[in-house]
Amino acid sequence: MPYIAEKNLDKCRHCGFCDEVACSSKYVGYSEECTGCGACSLACPYEAIQMIEIRNGKNISITVDGAIISVPERITVRKALEMCGHKVCEFPGEGDLFVPCKTGGCWSCAVLVNGELRPGCVTAVKEGMNINTRPEVTPKRPVHGWMGHAVGGVGTPWKLKKSCGFIETACFTCGCNFQCPQCQNWTSTYNGKEIALTPREAALLMSDARRSYRVDRMAISGGECTLNRKWLIEYLRELKKQNPDKNARFHVDTNGSILTPDYLDELVEAGMTDIGIDLKSLELDTFAHITGVKNKELAKKYLETAWNAVKYIVDNYSEKIFIGIGIPYNKYLISCEEIENVGEKIRTIDEQVQVCVLDYRPAFRRLYIQRPEYEEMVNVWKILSGTGLKTVICQTVKGHIGPEL
Ligand code: FES
Repeated sequence: MPYIAEKNLDKCRHCGFCDEVACSSKYVGYSEECTGCGACSLACPYEAIQMIEIRNGKNISITVDGAIISVPERITVRKALEMCGHKVCEFPGEGDLFVPCKTGGCWSCAVLVNGELRPGCVTAVKEGMNINTRPEVTPKRPVHGWMGHAVGGVGTPWKLKKSCGFIETACFTCGCNFQCPQCQNWTSTYNGKEIALTPREAALLMSDARRSYRVDRMAISGGECTLNRKWLIEYLRELKKQNPDKNARFHVDTNGSILTPDYLDELVEAGMTDIGIDLKSLELDTFAHITGVKNKELAKKYLETAWNAVKYIVDNYSEKIFIGIGIPYNKYLISCEEIENVGEKIRTIDEQVQVCVLDYRPAFRRLYIQRPEYEEMVNVWKILSGTGLKTVICQTVKGHIGPEL
């Protein structure tokens, strides 16, 4: 059955984010255009949108891989594909249609629609539409925000973070498989979806940015940049081709949740030189609380995969790849006891690995929680350093605290 978005006007604060940014048709709920994709509901900072099932007697005909099928009108391509037997998955390899962000940001679910690559999760079916689910075409993905960075990311070495001026350039991919209620990059996740780029187009823009900011480091972040594997691998290969000098560094900033060993091997082979992995937590309940991933089985897979990714990189690529680990801290989200346990576990993997604690402050939902005080972050620094980790950095209201505190 089709769904439609319904706004709860008691909760809605008329910020316009649902219509102007999240919705592909720009008309949430009250329009004939609503396909019930749910992107607005995931994006609304005030949780003011619900998806409700509607009765709709009309069917239309579409063609999927050469077969004509009848589907209800006002549904997404993704739903139509599910109706004709495709299996949707949120962890790679568990189905034939990987739909990790569900908001039109990552284009992992892209199929050819009337000859044009489109994200199936937010594209509406139309009478006579022709869908090809096995396109042999160059992947595309929305990427935006090329800019110079003065402090870099989780995978930027501390000795560089201390220097003045720009130290790397960064760009941001749309779409994330987490729904962190307190996300600090939520506009990056949803904004800029209109223009999807090929890996080569994105690599050219990044190479230009490198020249403009006169830096050697080029970071890709998000959203979650690893979601569209084919796109990311081709992007890194192309970027390396355009920046063949030995000073060039290719930094991937990620939540690590789908980085299986074969994916990590492929990233290294494609040119990745630096990686920052945000681990979020040690405990599953904390992870679900921080990331908003409600499906416990999926959350467990994400959490374990991220931890395993850290160990795999350390065990197999410590000579070749710089790795930094990110951990969040806010007393409303994770306890100091768990922070200590996270530190202990990282130390058993490698006491030398760089650990950067991010002082989580709400910018999306959970606006009631406060940014940690400077003293709280000093305490976290002491706890982690006390576990034996040698390179602990904490982000604070007064700037970074480094290993030499
Ligand atoms: S799952 Fe469809 S665009 Fe990300």
